[in-house]
Amino acid sequence: FRASVEGGFGEPGDAVVPRRQERQEQNPAELPVDGFENVADTDPAVAAHRAWARRVVAGEGYRPVQAAEIDSLPEIDAAVARADRAAQVWSEVSTACRARALRAIARRLEEARTDLVTALVHEPGKTVAEADPEISEAIDFANYYARAAEELDEVPGATFTPDGVTLVTPPWNFAVAIPVGGVVAALAAGSSVLAKPAPPTPRCFEIAIDAIHAGLLDVARECAEGTADTAFDEQVARDVVQFLRVPDGDAGQHLVTHEGVARVVLTGALETAQLFAGWRPERPLFAETSGKNSLVVTPAADIDLAVADLVRSAFGHAGQKCSAASLGILVGSVGDPRTETGRRFRRQLVDAVRSLVVGPGTDLATVMNPLTEPASGKLERALTTLEPGESWLVRPRQLDDDGKMWTPGLKEGVAPGSFFHETEVFGPVLGLMTVDTLDEALALQNHVDYGLTGGIHSLDTDEVDHWLDRVEVGNAYVNRHITGAIVQRQSFGGWKASAVGPGAKAGGPNYVAQFGTWHDDAALP
Ligand code: SER
Repeated sequence: FRASVEGGFGEPGDAVVPRRQERQEQNPAELPVDGFENVADTDPAVAAHRAWARRVVAGEGYRPVQAAEIDSLPEIDAAVARADRAAQVWSEVSTACRARALRAIARRLEEARTDLVTALVHEPGKTVAEADPEISEAIDFANYYARAAEELDEVPGATFTPDGVTLVTPPWNFAVAIPVGGVVAALAAGSSVLAKPAPPTPRCFEIAIDAIHAGLLDVARECAEGTADTAFDEQVARDVVQFLRVPDGDAGQHLVTHEGVARVVLTGALETAQLFAGWRPERPLFAETSGKNSLVVTPAADIDLAVADLVRSAFGHAGQKCSAASLGILVGSVGDPRTETGRRFRRQLVDAVRSLVVGPGTDLATVMNPLTEPASGKLERALTTLEPGESWLVRPRQLDDDGKMWTPGLKEGVAPGSFFHETEVFGPVLGLMTVDTLDEALALQNHVDYGLTGGIHSLDTDEVDHWLDRVEVGNAYVNRHITGAIVQRQSFGGWKASAVGPGAKAGGPNYVAQFGTWHDDAALP
């Protein structure tokens, strides 16, 4: 058994991949490209796709980050002042014009797709199969928030005032989609943006910012040609979004705490959100943080599907997703090796985990890429140590010297209340817990401080309804993998310790409307 579904260009686990040993016997030139192994090579679209993917992994045209780091505090002050002036103009630009700019940004991002995928493969080290849908997500954010901008004018009896200068500080694990999502949400609201890349992935954000500027300039030129928004000129288009490669440390703290920064949008670890909240007490902060996510499998599940989704959720991008499944909670016979269901589930899961081809993102046969940063701390503990009661079903192995390339780990016997039950490790380790009933599964799932994603595999609608009424997560998935939320269809955000600030979730209704203040028209003088 292998974690596979037919065709498609999706996440790891989708592709029928050769095992490492079989691969070595193949001529590398004949290696398949993820997701297209079952399609005849004679199809011209497939041939073109393969040629494109090979150019991407060869790094054609890829250049490392161009912008210099800025750690001079006066330079940061000057950027904030420029952003403030730009915000004053941009907030007055009609929502129709802002929406047009966001749709132009979406088109420019599509044009930059190859460069963006190439950067994701060569900077954080993603596979092409993980990187490509991430660009689609960024484009979806721009188009979706264009409509959200228009809706700001459509609330009867109320007027919206945007926050002003907004600092967007994204993570490195979705180094295109999350930063772009933050920038375009703030732009849609009428704020200006300071865009600070995560230190490991500046190039990904820099290319996206170039595309964003190109889209803004397209519309600024149209405005200069005679529409109502003549104040929106090329200078404003440049200043309304500024790429600021400020390192963490004193310069980073200066930026985050700056009086002129009205709102901070952070996606990162809970510890970082707590730090920022301490630095900016009582001042606007949206933070999407960590998760300790689990997928429940009941005896009413389609076992083949459950295994594939568990593997995909746990090991896509080597588990380096806040949304990743870290725990499989097995109900009744699913977790009982004395039953046929339990034996089958375990055999298929072990086979599927072992079948994941580990390698660099630049190898098109790779399904699980290396870590972006060497394993340390909690992740190193999870990869190298068993807690009381645990045993390896598949023991992780380190394949390189610097601690980034690991094979996936699968363990059973994770104890309630243990380190692995409660701690986000952010890497390629999946732990199994067993319970007798769905309510016990829910208790384990809800026990953790976080509440980001969670899933259930069950074809019994009563069970599913029972679970949906009780699970404490921002994104609850049924009979589906638990990563890769789709803009508009599955708005994304956390509950409990997984979020600070926003009530409405990214990529969904009312998200943009939170980037400002609403006034009741009747109360205005
Ligand atoms: N939005 C991503 C997901 O759904 C996580 O940030 O997996």
